[in-house]
Amino acid sequence: MMLLIGCTAVSEEDLVDVTLIEVVTFNEDVKPIIDNNCIICHSNPPQNGAPMPLVSYDNVKEAVQNRNLIGRISSEDPAFSMPFGGPRLPQNLIDMVIQWNEDGLIEE
Ligand code: HEC
Repeated sequence: MMLLIGCTAVSEEDLVDVTLIEVVTFNEDVKPIIDNNCIICHSNPPQNGAPMPLVSYDNVKEAVQNRNLIGRISSEDPAFSMPFGGPRLPQNLIDMVIQWNEDGLIEE
């Protein structure tokens, strides 16, 4: 709204661009991806040899910062990639997690 007050010449195109800006958050965007693809093993306590849970915001944030979570889901190497033993996630979901990290690991 500040923009509009100072500038009556904002074009319709500019306004449409503003509505496209969306911040990725854990609760809205990332948690459903983890719940659907990871917590079958990364539960609390973890199953099937997984080393840590990914059930909370803090768990997942810690894994992005210290356990190379993004490297693991991005990898094309089946011996390294996550989900363990499973197909690689669709690229749009991988990009969502990357964007979440770039946006600052916001919780909600
Ligand atoms: C079928 C069980 C299973 C599923 C599903 C699974 N993982 Fe894992 N995960 C493991 C096992 C087992 C390990 C330990 C062996 C390894 O590092 O390859 C592991 C390790 C990891 C590690 C490295 C931990 C460390 O400290 O080095 C990360 C990060 C990870 N998983 C993230 C994920 C994510 C994110 C998903 C969902 C997209 C996922 N995993 C799905 C079983 C699983």
